[in-house]
Amino acid sequence: MARFTLPRDLYHGKGSLEALKSLKGTRAMVCVGGGSMKKFGFLDKVITYLHEAGMETELFEGIKPDPSVDTVMRGAAAMEKFQPDWIIAIGGGSPIDAAKAMWIKYEHPEITFAQMCVVFGIPELRKKARFCAIPSTSGTATEVTAFSVITDYKKGIKYPLADFEITPDVAIVDPELAQTMPKKLTAHTGMDAMTHAIEAFVSTANCDFTDPLAIGAIKMIQSDLVASYNGDMSKRASMHNAQCLAGMAFSNALLGIVHSMAHKTGAIFEDYGAHIIHGAANAMYLPKVIAFNAKDATAKARYGIIADVMGLGGANADEKVASLITYLRGMNDALNIPRCIKQYGADSTPCEQGFVPEDVFLARLPKIAKNAVDDACTGSNPRQPSLEEMEKLLKCCYYDTEVDF
Ligand SMILES: NC(=O)c1ccc[n+]([C@@H]2O[C@H](COP(=O)([O-])OP(=O)(O)OC[C@H]3O[C@@H](n4cnc5c(N)ncnc54)[C@H](O)[C@@H]3O)[C@@H](O)[C@H]2O)c1
Ligand SMILES: [Zn+2]
Repeated sequence: MARFTLPRDLYHGKGSLEALKSLKGTRAMVCVGGGSMKKFGFLDKVITYLHEAGMETELFEGIKPDPSVDTVMRGAAAMEKFQPDWIIAIGGGSPIDAAKAMWIKYEHPEITFAQMCVVFGIPELRKKARFCAIPSTSGTATEVTAFSVITDYKKGIKYPLADFEITPDVAIVDPELAQTMPKKLTAHTGMDAMTHAIEAFVSTANCDFTDPLAIGAIKMIQSDLVASYNGDMSKRASMHNAQCLAGMAFSNALLGIVHSMAHKTGAIFEDYGAHIIHGAANAMYLPKVIAFNAKDATAKARYGIIADVMGLGGANADEKVASLITYLRGMNDALNIPRCIKQYGADSTPCEQGFVPEDVFLARLPKIAKNAVDDACTGSNPRQPSLEEMEKLLKCCYYDTEVDF
């Protein structure tokens, strides 16, 4: 038996933020990030609409990118005090993910962070509050997913929390919120979405319900991401929907080792000034993982289907996989994303020698590889890597060398 879960309601299209007016409740806790939503006036609109719905509101502001366990605990304490019956999270993946984890702690004050991390082990929610998510980036699709990614900075590790309990009740996918994204954010979040769709399509948990969503997203992202990056706002609106479709696919089909590696490299070089942004990490690792996974016959055939859908050509499955890898590397170049960790430089742009020195990478490699193998996303990858293979794969992602094993 498999399960397919999505939010009960999804409002979409320009102006759909107004759907907040129709929520029924008494107290809404609004969780938001560093200031972009305030600066561009969206936060004011959210508060106004919630007041129109007859709700009292309280703000939990300042949730930083890649939210920490500490932030989650602080937010849960604020909820405990205010006793909301709605949690409204607005912004990028970070504030929405943080609010999801706060929600768990608010509903179950006794739960520890370690207990939250038990995959599909989150206790029943919705005894105190329901959850509405409003994304302002076009990538994570956390507004429709069963995931939340929280960073334990003491360990330098990102932990994906996973359970359909944290799939939001309401998602509002209003393209106006994504229009203010700077170029770099558009590029990174867009390639995050592409990775979600491709990993979901080849995941061992793919099914008839997730495949059309993944394929639809891939086609839209191929058609729209680079133009959106270059400022075409109608394509930007289309990308907002595309990333959501990709999220519907991966929330139910799960992901693979591109995400395992991104989770475990994201925060581990912080002390060298290299925070490897989630979407950029995925974009760099995806072509390498495709080459690795394609040694599995089923995965190879599925990558071939993706290449066909994208119209990339190739006379046989091997050629199709090669075309797909070349195409994705071309997209990264068009989006000014580095090709490998070694080239990951200031402002996440490519350079000869980036933030992460070779000796530091090699010294930390065994630990990163072990953590990546143990990541929650590894189980549904089509080819299970040994520890040794994971180390080799990570080296290819550092040096941009060919994956031939
Ligand atoms: N829950 C999931 O299913 C899932 C999936 C993939 C990734 N993630 C996680 O999500 C996080 C990344 O989220 P993200 O990529 O959406 O970015 P983010 O939320 O970390 O935001 C990045 C920056 O963009 C700014 N920003 C957001 N929206 C903006 C807008 N419209 N205009 C201008 N600036 C804006 C924010 O203020 C912030 O400074 C990572 O922690 C990642 O691990 C979660
Ligand atoms: Zn992702």
